[in-house]
Amino acid sequence: MRPLSDADAVFQSYGRCCRSERFFEDFYTHFMGSSEAIRAKFVDTDMPAQRHLLRAGLLWLIMYARGAPGGKLRDLGKSHSRGGYDIHPSWYGLWLDALMTTIRSHDPEYVPELERQWRAVMQGGIDVISGAY
Ligand code: HEM
Repeated sequence: MRPLSDADAVFQSYGRCCRSERFFEDFYTHFMGSSEAIRAKFVDTDMPAQRHLLRAGLLWLIMYARGAPGGKLRDLGKSHSRGGYDIHPSWYGLWLDALMTTIRSHDPEYVPELERQWRAVMQGGIDVISGAY
């Protein structure tokens, strides 16, 4: 059997993680726990809605790595830029660390190789979003 590409392995891992709504709750617990400044960005946010938006946003990052056009990511780049939510590019490292912590505990088929694959797949889309800062 042909080995899965990084993007396909990540797509399948994401499918396993998405089976539980707790995945998105735990992600925001880890992410907001990583910095007071990040917590402050979400004080007025409807978190149940935000968890649903992230569910789609993560899919856009994976689809981008699988060759889909980056239009949705450029929209996120605009909303997250200094004229929008003002998300400094240095914060995406904490975002990715929180994501990896969450995946390790939620993907029942997690193996260490997935850490490298997830980081590689996310980075392309993160570059598009944070590059618009
Ligand atoms: C690649 C990483 C990220 C993805 C995929 C992502 C995805 C999203 C999506 C889909 C939305 C809703 C759509 C929109 O308003 O444009 C959103 C809103 C938001 N994101 Fe992100 N985001 C990322 C990174 C970050 C980071 C690092 C922060 C830092 C705190 C952040 C803070 C916010 C805030 C404050 C909102 C608006 C919340 C509100 O409506 O109250 N995001 N994000």
